[in-house]
Amino acid sequence: MNLLIMGLPGAGKGTQAERIVVTFHIPQISTGDMFRLAMKKQTKLGLEAKAFIDKGELVPDKVTNGIVKERLSENDVDGGFLLDGFPRTMDQAIALDIMLSELQKKIEAVINIQVKPEILIERLTGRFICRDCGATYHKLNNPPKVKGVCDRCGSHNFYQRADDKPETVKNRLEVNIKQSQPILAYYEKQGLIHNIDGSRDIDLVFADVKTIIENIG
Ligand code: AP5
Ligand code: MG
Repeated sequence: MNLLIMGLPGAGKGTQAERIVVTFHIPQISTGDMFRLAMKKQTKLGLEAKAFIDKGELVPDKVTNGIVKERLSENDVDGGFLLDGFPRTMDQAIALDIMLSELQKKIEAVINIQVKPEILIERLTGRFICRDCGATYHKLNNPPKVKGVCDRCGSHNFYQRADDKPETVKNRLEVNIKQSQPILAYYEKQGLIHNIDGSRDIDLVFADVKTIIENIG
């Protein structure tokens, strides 16, 4: 199955994606994760993306569309994929349609996680991530079972994202609120949108996500 997961920064896209990957065995394609990996390796792409990400702005469409096109040409997406954080502009949505039609694929469902912006600020500023396996936690809402130890890989090594600083978070939310409206309308018109209340407990949100995916097709 070919899926999109949408939602404002902090809505829980990555958190739900971790569970979707394990349950449905499809790869997560997160443009944010791809940019962060490139920044860590200090590649040309990473240096270019950093200037935008650090300000909470979107990376230019041409760059973002290019990395997604390359990723979708890999073999592991043949059995389906979950796009997380892409498309984020109408230009990207149109580019995605072209990429998929060339690959004779189409999006089967768009899972849209809805959470009020007030809650999102608290979620983003309290988030921390395992440096070794990428598992996402929250200091209050979703701490590791054993304090200071990653549930998934046992690491003690965590970090906070540079773009989770309060001043950057505010701009990220503004940018994303504005850009997401036409994309949601575009997929709504195609009957693909499934809205989920993402303000509830992570497991309750995932129960809805699972039902949606199980009922596709
Ligand atoms: P990206 O990495 O995609 O970030 P984002 O969209 O801002 O979303 P986040 O990853 O911050 O949030 P999330 O929804 O995954 O939430 P999470 O599950 O972690 O993009 C980063 C940047 O890269 C962009 O700003 C842009 O510059 C660039 N970029 C990326 N894609 C681009 C594109 N297509 N075009 C151009 N530029 C692009 O959860 C957040 C926290 O809440 C965690 O602590 C978690 O534990 C907690 N939590 C999750 N669910 C719940 C719940 N139900 N209840 C309580 N707490 C919860
Ligand atoms: Mg994410």
